[in-house]
Amino acid sequence: MYGIVNKSIEELVLANYGQEKWEDIKSKSNINIEYFISSESYDDDVTYQLAGTIAKELNVSVDDVLRLFGEWWILHTGKNHYGYMLESGGDNFRTFMLNLPSFHNRVMMMYPKLTPPEFKVTNVEDRSLHLHYFSKRKGLTAFVYGLMTGLGKFFNTNVTTQHLESIQGENTHEIIKVVWKIQ
Ligand code: HEM
Repeated sequence: MYGIVNKSIEELVLANYGQEKWEDIKSKSNINIEYFISSESYDDDVTYQLAGTIAKELNVSVDDVLRLFGEWWILHTGKNHYGYMLESGGDNFRTFMLNLPSFHNRVMMMYPKLTPPEFKVTNVEDRSLHLHYFSKRKGLTAFVYGLMTGLGKFFNTNVTTQHLESIQGENTHEIIKVVWKIQ
């Protein structure tokens, strides 16, 4: 994944646990990278290793780390560096979700070597929908849950997620029910 992702994980650790903890996590992850360059591509293993080491260090599950990172990605990296993109996705949570399927097309203009996730929305109601998450990667569904609650906070909307179905196949296809209530 692009370095911006690993850099965002680094910022999350630095902000909450400090420099020493970060150096420790980096060395325990065996990645031998001094610092991440946002616009450079890194092996996905780097990201998975970091998430795994953080989970061990904090004594929580990898899914807990991914959820936390999903929120952080929206509320810190997204808001601070790509606020204009989040805003152009819609002015409320529901509209943003309806536009989500085309969101990474714009990201690809910045990061042309992106292997983006794909999204589809079905069963759209006033306050709920079914989100279909497709990916060439495995194990990142909890990241999507965190992204949803992060977006909810961004739009002052209370968001909950419920896993509905995993469609078996070569690639990931998860169906998640997303429910929201404006605060
Ligand atoms: C704020 C602006 C955003 C930017 C700049 C951005 C950029 C990226 C980048 C660079 C990656 C790594 C993929 C790669 O390098 O191949 C990624 C992955 C991902 N993004 Fe975004 N993204 C943004 C917002 C979102 C939002 C709003 C969602 C969904 C709610 C989302 C869902 C994901 C997921 C699930 C992945 C993991 C990759 C996978 O599942 O295969 N992103 N994004």
